[in-house]
Amino acid sequence: MRTCYVGQVCNKNLGQKVTLYGWVHRRRDHGGVVFIDLRDRTGLIQIVFSPDKKVFSDSEMLRNEFCIGITGIVQLRPEGTVNIDMPTGNLEVLCDEITVFNTAVALPFQLEDTNLSENTRLFNRVLDLRRAKMQKNLMTRYSVSSAARCFLDKMGFIEIETPTLTKSTPEGARDYLVPSRVNAGHFFALPQSPQLFKQMLMISGFDRYYQITKCFRDEDLRSDRQPEFTQIDCELSFLEEKDIRCIFEDMIKFIFKRVKDINLSETFPVISWKEAVYNYGSDKPDLRINLKLIDVSDVVENSDLKIFSNAATSSDSRVAALRVPCGVNFSRKEIDDYTKFVGIYGAKGLAYIKVNKVSDGRDGLQSPILKNIDDSILLKLIERIKLTDGDIVFFVADKNKIVNDALGSLRIKIGSSEFGKATGLFSEGWKPLWVIDFPMFEFDEQNNRYSAVHHPFTSIKDGHDIFIDNGEYDKVVSKAYDIVLNGWEIGGGSIRISNNILQEKIFKVLGINEKESREQFGFLLDALRYGAPPHGGIAFGLDRIVALLTNSESIRDVIAFPKTQRAQCLLTEAPSIVNDDQLKELHVKLR
Ligand code: AMO
Repeated sequence: MRTCYVGQVCNKNLGQKVTLYGWVHRRRDHGGVVFIDLRDRTGLIQIVFSPDKKVFSDSEMLRNEFCIGITGIVQLRPEGTVNIDMPTGNLEVLCDEITVFNTAVALPFQLEDTNLSENTRLFNRVLDLRRAKMQKNLMTRYSVSSAARCFLDKMGFIEIETPTLTKSTPEGARDYLVPSRVNAGHFFALPQSPQLFKQMLMISGFDRYYQITKCFRDEDLRSDRQPEFTQIDCELSFLEEKDIRCIFEDMIKFIFKRVKDINLSETFPVISWKEAVYNYGSDKPDLRINLKLIDVSDVVENSDLKIFSNAATSSDSRVAALRVPCGVNFSRKEIDDYTKFVGIYGAKGLAYIKVNKVSDGRDGLQSPILKNIDDSILLKLIERIKLTDGDIVFFVADKNKIVNDALGSLRIKIGSSEFGKATGLFSEGWKPLWVIDFPMFEFDEQNNRYSAVHHPFTSIKDGHDIFIDNGEYDKVVSKAYDIVLNGWEIGGGSIRISNNILQEKIFKVLGINEKESREQFGFLLDALRYGAPPHGGIAFGLDRIVALLTNSESIRDVIAFPKTQRAQCLLTEAPSIVNDDQLKELHVKLR
């Protein structure tokens, strides 16, 4: 039987007999003495096979990735052979016995190879997961969920499972549907989140619930989105928005401290959605970047530059500036590249002014747009933007969304570039914040109707019913909050509607009529009539928290068996074709 894991062997074991199990990580033959590095999930240790021992002849057949067990005596490595890069690098085990559990065929790649394509890695995920980085990532993932459980258990939350075969919950994505065999023509939906169940658990009196659970969303995939992902999902009764934020701020601080000994700031800044979008062009600002958008709409509303004045005087548009200190030497090519980049977000151009010497006024500036800006406006722009020698300032004038997306993304691109890092525009570290006061509704131009910015069960600010009654839907502010870390939305939640009359009103604004709301959400509306407690909650993206803690670019690197950008599992080849009999049984006919 194993006496300990490889990584646990230490000086205390010197002279002791140990039995270790694992994989042959590397084998070296040094003129008669054979060495292997034995690997298990805790690390590596050197095993020595001496020609004086009977076991030596067996060692010659060992190859990489054979699964073996060894028994031997722990000893110090001879002087000059200590490996300071290995935690067990001063030790080795002189092997007496070896068991080969299974041999391994030649690997399609070296485990240490860091240049593999993601498809190769996902196709060979079993081997990919043997790599030290992936082992560490999944262990960190486990540490995060166990820290969350520890915190929530201590705070009186109880873990309750909710169904996976359920009815659609609107979270803004498409549903994954599962046909019912016994109810012809009827479908389950896989939950986009346990939202309605956790609310009903509050109405049932459970008071504090949590669940670390899978959610399913059929949406466009990105590095921070998977069709199947994990939430730390929580709900509580009888607390106000601030109290809820306070509890979960503590939870995040607890997780970061316990998992990586990181001290997050004592209190997280809280900014409104409006401020976030106005200043950073995003509702999930990366506060590591020391750049802000500056609104100049009022300054340029009478400008001869029509692009500026048109946007400045239109209610759904704005003109904003992004001042980049030390950017005066950006080349023509760099500026062209940035112009192309903002084009991705719909910006039709990227105006700029370079500042050589601000005290020289117009003569100290350089820009193709200067000729269209008169002196008084130019002076006001210099003051508003606080232009300084050596700056470049970029402008975008367009619809609000285009300006915010374009300049918000340019802020990140420049701020996190080598240039940004070298010039102090980027501060390393952890920058959490809360974004609150989201609008309740947004107008969906494509479908010509309002939709909920969070979800339809989000409550609204006290007194904002009047805006609904007056049809002023754009003015309704919700009691929703997001938690953002280094530009990633790691969680989102809200105070919920706990009364059926307001809930029905909200459905109406969203174009869900009485009959439809009964069909889709009758069970919730009924439950809300039986003495619902005031309640609210939040859900965290576990995958995103782990990706941040492991410095991974994509959440695919912290999920054991993730899907590709095309929502496929390369390892198992899911989704796959099913046979006609299966379809028939499910009452499904393919087009
Ligand atoms: P929301 O939709 O904001 O809220 O989701 C909560 C958190 O889950 C993570 N997340 C994702 N992670 C990976 N892949 C995805 N496709 C994905 N979608 C979301 C994000 C996000 O902040 N029921 C509400 C929560 C509530 O109101 O309590 C909900 O699901 O980190």
